[in-house]
Amino acid sequence: MSAPSMTLYYNAASPFARKVLILLHETGQASRVSLKAVALTPVSPDAEVCRDNPCGKIPALCLADGNVIHDSRVILDYLDQQHVGNPLIPKEGSARWRRLTLASLADALMDAALLIRYETFLRPEEKHWSEWLDAQQEKIARTLAYFEAEAITELSTHFDVASISVACAVGYLDFRQPNLGWRSSYPRLANWYDEVSQRPSMLETQPPA
Ligand code: BEZ
Repeated sequence: MSAPSMTLYYNAASPFARKVLILLHETGQASRVSLKAVALTPVSPDAEVCRDNPCGKIPALCLADGNVIHDSRVILDYLDQQHVGNPLIPKEGSARWRRLTLASLADALMDAALLIRYETFLRPEEKHWSEWLDAQQEKIARTLAYFEAEAITELSTHFDVASISVACAVGYLDFRQPNLGWRSSYPRLANWYDEVSQRPSMLETQPPA
C-alpha cells in the first residue's frame, strides 16, 4: 500500500470533519489521507491551519501538489471525484440539487449546534445571550422536524452526501446535547439514525467519549 498523499486537518469532535472521514471510509480512500488532529476554537486558532486556510477553519485538506482545499463541501466534492465507485454526490440532474440541499440543511443544523456549543462553553455564563441560544435551538428543532416529515424516505434509499451529512448532524447533537431527547419527537429519524450508526464508517468515526 502506498503512503498517504494528502493530509487532513481535523478534530475528532467536529461534525464537519466527520463528514470527510466517513466519505473517505465509504469510498475506500482512507489510506490515501494522513490525519493531523488540531485543537482549536474561534478564539484560539491553530497557526498551522491558519497558514493553509486563512479563516482558520477545519476540515482543510492538503493535496499531494501542496494546494489546500476547504470547506467540508468542497473537500467532499473533490474526494468524490477521486474514486471509481458509485458517486456519493450525484453528478447532475434534480437528484444532485436535492441531495446537496439536504446536505446543506444538515450543515445548517451543525452550524447552529456549534454556535450553541461556543456560546455555552466558551463565553462566561453571565454573558450568555438566551434569545440567541433559543433561536439556534429552534432552528435545530425545525430542521429535525423537516427531516422527519419530508426527507426520511429519501435518506433511507442510500448512504450518500445527504445521508452522511444528516447522520453527522444528528450524531453531533447526541454528542453535545445528550439530554435533548429528540428521539421521541422524531421517531422515524431516530430509527434511521440508529440503523446507519452501525455502518463501519460511522462506528470508526464516532466523536470522542
Ligand atoms: C467541539 O468540541 O464540539 C468541536 C471542536 C472542534 C470543531 C468542532 C466542534
